[in-house]
Amino acid sequence: MAPSRRELLGTGIRALTVPMFMASTASSYSISEVEGRLAKGSGIEGVSKQDLPTPCLLLDLDALEENIRKMASHAKAAGLDLRPHGKTHKCSEIAKRQVGAGALGLCVATIREAEAMADAGIGGLLLTSEAVGPNKIHRLIRLAGRKPDTMAVVDHEDNARELDEAASDAGVRLRVLVDVDPLGRRTGVPPGPGAVRLAETVDRLGNLDLRGVHGYCGASSHVTGFEARKAHSERYMGPVLETYNSMRRKGLPVEIMSGASTGTYNIDSNLEGMTELQVGSYAVMDVDYRRIGGASGDVYDDFRPALHVLATVVSKNHDDIATVDAGLKALATDRSFGPDVASPQGLSYAFRGDEHGALTLEDPNARLSLGDKVELLVPHCDPNVNLYDRMYCVRGDAVRQVWKVDARGHV
Ligand SMILES: Cc1ncc(COP(=O)(O)O)c(C=O)c1O
Repeated sequence: MAPSRRELLGTGIRALTVPMFMASTASSYSISEVEGRLAKGSGIEGVSKQDLPTPCLLLDLDALEENIRKMASHAKAAGLDLRPHGKTHKCSEIAKRQVGAGALGLCVATIREAEAMADAGIGGLLLTSEAVGPNKIHRLIRLAGRKPDTMAVVDHEDNARELDEAASDAGVRLRVLVDVDPLGRRTGVPPGPGAVRLAETVDRLGNLDLRGVHGYCGASSHVTGFEARKAHSERYMGPVLETYNSMRRKGLPVEIMSGASTGTYNIDSNLEGMTELQVGSYAVMDVDYRRIGGASGDVYDDFRPALHVLATVVSKNHDDIATVDAGLKALATDRSFGPDVASPQGLSYAFRGDEHGALTLEDPNARLSLGDKVELLVPHCDPNVNLYDRMYCVRGDAVRQVWKVDARGHV
């Protein structure tokens, strides 16, 4: 077999041996130089997608920037605040761009995400999962000491009292939203008088500042078909908004009503009382969202797919099938489907174990050879990002930056 471009690059006699057609995609660095520069994240001018180790995560900067701009202008036009959810990308570089485009802060799902975002200078954090137990409470209160505009959610009086006590011990005040559950039976107090009573309790506690309501209806986000999704969200968010309005009528200091998802951003924006959007996936998108259908067609394409796994063809011994080096450990597996093959076209993907995937050549004109690179649109962005330490940020074929997935993991 002829030596690969990678091997040729590694020989140091590249100038003599690399055929002309390879020069257009090859960087002028040796393999070790590329490795060193990618690890440092600097000096990568001229490094191309073709130089990247696979499987790896690619972030298309043009698509990311367009998505961030589009959601920011939507929120502005709707007169709503935007606090995007950082659980999607776990990357402070993306968060900085969202804030730079007008977001007033960032939602986070874990205390680890909150700390990493705060370390990167992101403020206006809203922890959308209850902080229960000494470790989380201690870290949340410590964070509120550093960043007084941090907010937390509560769905139980006992937790509210524990937070109040910890805030008192530390001499800080903690801003709080009452978590009202539209449907999910995951977290949140059911809408209605119980939720209002909890808000009154929070309001009475000396070291907590009641700020509003958190109501996230995850069950609506992926309902297929725009009209069905709209009906679903209106039905289940209705009682949450009524509860929020009763708190307002009682004079409770609830200026924030936060909710919505990428699937319902243009539905929930029209709900009376909503004040801010906590959308997440729109920044990078995934197969899961593209399948739900948009306001104008079968494919939900309000936002552009920006996140792909780059894989390499590592085995090609059959006419109709090629094997790539991205399998169960390289892609999110929580859905009943795998990734879409974004490039080249005419291929479909199936998992073939931990390290491998099989590409079926559906288009008889499709051709694949050993060493070819393939871009896979991630099945579900959140758990897919969580598998990687870095994102390689690209424009076209050029690698422009390397961003850490710095809020990843549990510590
Ligand atoms: C509490 C909460 N808010 C907002 C979001 C963002 O949803 P999406 O990524 O669908 O926009 C999520 C996602 O799971 C979530 O759990």
